[in-house]
Amino acid sequence: MVETMSWKNNVLRLLDQSKLPAEVVELSCNTYQDVADAIKTMKVRGAPAIGAAAAFGMVLGANNYTGENKDNFFSFMDHVAETLKSTRPTAVNLFWAIERMENCLLQYKKNPLNSLLKALEKEATEIFQEDKELNLSIGYHGNKIVPYKATILTHCNAGSLATAGYGTALGVIRAAHEAEKHISVYADETRPLLQGARLTAWELMSEGIPVTLITDSMAGYVMKLGKIDMVIVGADRIAANGDVANKIGTYSLAVLAKEHKIPFYVAAPYSTIDLTLMDGEQIVIEERSHDEIRRVGTIMMAPEKVPVFNPAFDVTPNSMITAIITDKGVIGPPFNVGLKNNGYKRR
Ligand code: MRU
Repeated sequence: MVETMSWKNNVLRLLDQSKLPAEVVELSCNTYQDVADAIKTMKVRGAPAIGAAAAFGMVLGANNYTGENKDNFFSFMDHVAETLKSTRPTAVNLFWAIERMENCLLQYKKNPLNSLLKALEKEATEIFQEDKELNLSIGYHGNKIVPYKATILTHCNAGSLATAGYGTALGVIRAAHEAEKHISVYADETRPLLQGARLTAWELMSEGIPVTLITDSMAGYVMKLGKIDMVIVGADRIAANGDVANKIGTYSLAVLAKEHKIPFYVAAPYSTIDLTLMDGEQIVIEERSHDEIRRVGTIMMAPEKVPVFNPAFDVTPNSMITAIITDKGVIGPPFNVGLKNNGYKRR
């Protein structure tokens, strides 16, 4: 299984996902600014991976502090947290992880600086390790709803690359494959940044899980041909009522799945469930650079000045979701009941 990130000797090493699959290169982050930049430019991406990277970003921030005064240290750490939080607005795991690190800072506030640094490092490592375990649990529960023979459509990349390991949507697929079920996958290419083509296809192929790549616009036809048994996607933020923000195009897939009576599943850990928000209307949708649409890589695909709208995510209403697969089990509607006490409440 590919390793998205590793932490050693106070350096965060990230597999640079913006270069995959053409180049498999590692990126070393020595400062919190390096981590913020890697998140912003999507060298590390996927909700749980962003959260874990930001947690290590907090450790690097604390290590980078050069002052003597402890009061200044805490205001410096506020600045580090704000810098990391300002990178991407939609995936709640980012805020969840930074809040956990802030709580750790509060808890050890009275300790000498070096023991505080150790506590922060331990907390970030726990966030990272815990995410791997959450994904294994998601896989375990999700496998129960996957038939012995199934073709599964997925969108974007909710795999090992998007998490600390194993993946959420791809974790379910991986668990079913490991259980020796006959699983094959259709992967949407996922315009504009092609996470499906570049990452999901690469990740599945490297593990021998059969995958067929399609463009996003082919999903309806592929469903109509009867090729898809179920859809499983990840999530960036799930509101208390079960509305799900995920990669742009997820909503279109849910509409198509409903029309073709294909079950539509979302797989995510509790750290993606934002119980502070009543519904998906309140989720902030990130808008990204217009050049991501005008170009593919460095090649211009549209008139240079054409107006563009580039939301990175959309919200799928809970009514279109068959069930949400979490680390605690498979939760069906009504989601406001099932998700209660099974998520996180922001401060
Ligand atoms: O813009 P990205 O690549 O960070 O978007 C990722 C997704 O939408 C994933 O489906 C989601 O974060 C879940 S990853 C387990």
